[in-house]
Amino acid sequence: MRNKPLIVAVVLVLLAVLVFAVGWMIGSRHHGEPAQAAGDGRVPVDARAIFIPEGGQLDRLRRGVPVDQEGHPPPMARVENTDLSRLRNYPMQPPTIPHTIDGYQVDRNSNRCMLCHARANAATFQAPPVSVTHYMDRDDQFLATISPRRYFCNQCHVVQTDAPTLVANGFKDIDSVLAAPPPGGN
Ligand code: HEC
Ligand code: HEC
Repeated sequence: MRNKPLIVAVVLVLLAVLVFAVGWMIGSRHHGEPAQAAGDGRVPVDARAIFIPEGGQLDRLRRGVPVDQEGHPPPMARVENTDLSRLRNYPMQPPTIPHTIDGYQVDRNSNRCMLCHARANAATFQAPPVSVTHYMDRDDQFLATISPRRYFCNQCHVVQTDAPTLVANGFKDIDSVLAAPPPGGN
């Protein structure tokens, strides 16, 4: 029996081919059948349309999907890296971050954001320094370094993404309010 390993190998290959063929046949039999749960209302509604104005929806975040049904989750938004600042959407909004922050570590020992955004480093990195509020404690005393309550930047600042607007916003900042002609035209 010098050829024993060879025989074992051949048998194994034949078995593999057989299993594959059976799997193939079972797979193709199921092909073309209608989707399993069709009709019982549990199939995700194809609601990729993002914003349906005046769709009669109580909650527009549902993107027009009836409340008793489940919509497809919207595609994940991409982070934009444009270096362009965006207008505020409400007073005192922390400005959105116009650059990616992947891998910027902020923990007890180091704060990567302050590498560029500290007053002392602003010139080197051409980054806007954090404003004075970030050096104030809750009693409005100025500290020499970033205030502990402003230490974790991502608590307030978020990156900009290409996510579509779900809810319209009519906010006007004070500059455009002052620039508008007074009502009545006097
Ligand atoms: C490598 C340097 C660098 C690091 C690190 C960095 N930034 Fe920036 N950041 C900049 C520069 C430069 C700008 C100016 C706009 C631009 O060029 O993207 C900026 C702009 C900003 C702005 C916009 C300010 C405004 O007035 O609109 C915010 C907010 C901001 N960064 C927050 C952060 C946060 C939070 C982190 C840490 C997670 C961080 N940055 C890390 C360089 C940096
Ligand atoms: C508690 C919320 C909060 C935290 C935490 C916070 N910020 Fe801010 N940040 C704001 C707000 C609100 C503004 C706009 C008003 C102001 O300047 O105080 C702002 C403004 C800024 C600006 C623009 C400054 C300017 O003059 O235009 C930069 C840059 C910035 N933050 C960076 C950072 C960085 C870096 C950190 C982390 C070290 C951080 N912020 C932590 C709320 C926060």
